[in-house]
Amino acid sequence: MRQLIRGRTLSFHADPVTTENAYSYHEDGAIIVSDGLIEAIGDYADLRQADMPEIDHRPHLILPGFIDTHIHFPQVQVVASWGAQLLDWLNTYTFPEESRFSQQGHAPEMAEHFLNLLLAHGTTTAVAFCSSHKQSAEALFSAAHARNMAMIAGKVMMDRNAPEGVLDTPQSGYDDSKALIEKWHGTGRQRYAITPRFAITSTPQQMAMTGQLVREHPDCHIQTHLSENLDEIAFTLSLYPEARDYLDIYETYGLLSDKLLLGHSIHLEPREIARMAETGSRAVFCPTSNLFLGSGLFDEAGLRKAGVVSGIATDIGGGTSYSMLQTLNEGYKILQLRGQKLHPFAAFHWATRGNAVALGMEDQIGTLAPGSAADLVVLDSRATPAMALRMARAETLAEELFVLQIMGDDRSVAQTYVAGQAML
Ligand code: GUN
Ligand code: ZN
Repeated sequence: MRQLIRGRTLSFHADPVTTENAYSYHEDGAIIVSDGLIEAIGDYADLRQADMPEIDHRPHLILPGFIDTHIHFPQVQVVASWGAQLLDWLNTYTFPEESRFSQQGHAPEMAEHFLNLLLAHGTTTAVAFCSSHKQSAEALFSAAHARNMAMIAGKVMMDRNAPEGVLDTPQSGYDDSKALIEKWHGTGRQRYAITPRFAITSTPQQMAMTGQLVREHPDCHIQTHLSENLDEIAFTLSLYPEARDYLDIYETYGLLSDKLLLGHSIHLEPREIARMAETGSRAVFCPTSNLFLGSGLFDEAGLRKAGVVSGIATDIGGGTSYSMLQTLNEGYKILQLRGQKLHPFAAFHWATRGNAVALGMEDQIGTLAPGSAADLVVLDSRATPAMALRMARAETLAEELFVLQIMGDDRSVAQTYVAGQAML
């Protein structure tokens, strides 16, 4: 099936922070979609064909669908839990909620809600932590596969410092992860992320078996948490007294590579930053979560200068919005407090191609280049009266993008396409 999607297209082919002319924009643009892939992109006048079905999204912007590089699927009912920082928040709200995912029927029901929310917010790919129960990952992969959505997910491995109902064991964590990899990694657009929750909830035995999984499946991503909160760091180092620093724990068990996504990465030592750069390990900035849990201020420019690649993510349910636009809004404010600037071109690059680069998937998602999946978000920069008023004073594309970045949310998402299919 071929169809033409018409609108104002915007796609990045390089990082605008380091490269001039990093994007291409067509004011009266079009994308030809064929079998779920982008076949061509350009000016409507050049691409139109008499017999091809057309969908007209003018005057809206068409971008690659947003990519969320760190989100917790079993926390859809944890968002907006009051009054705690990380460790209390986990114990009081999060672990009890995740224990519900052992109940028959709960994970499939939540998976539908979760994917509906992602799509309503223009997110077409997410890197998701599931609960420790194998069936939570099973439910998420099944639901994502049915929609042809590229999901990267894994069941959390955690064998200590949490209630019984969310614990696995080193052996069951290994076996369940292995079975899920065999069933889902590479099935359609699904990919597996080996998922030790963080060092606090894994014994050295579990970390060792995680390292074994990583060696046996070098093609899988790995996701975990690093240096989010000062109490977390102190507790972690007390549990691994031989470690030089927090990152050294993950290094000891062979987890560091360009497949590793380290959520938060806020309070880092110089040695940790240098090792992340040397090994290609990715930092993931979670602005709404870092503010909500009072965790700290991510150092985007410092990591970039050291050569660390960073993603940006919602971190629902520590994070407070599914919207990558709202995530960029709060990210802008955090970097303001750091004396750093998040330009709207850098912001929209980050939520699309930048996150794809962090995943090593920029040849498949995150741009509108021919050959990429037709995963698209259609954005309305006048979606609310307040936005429309502000837009009356916007003269450039950068200004329009900044209005979306600061004022936009799911109301600005006019349509989301997954592999060429309209989802809203
Ligand atoms: N560290 C370990 N688990 C979690 C989690 O679920 N959310 C956040 N924000 N940090 C974590
Ligand atoms: Zn997280």
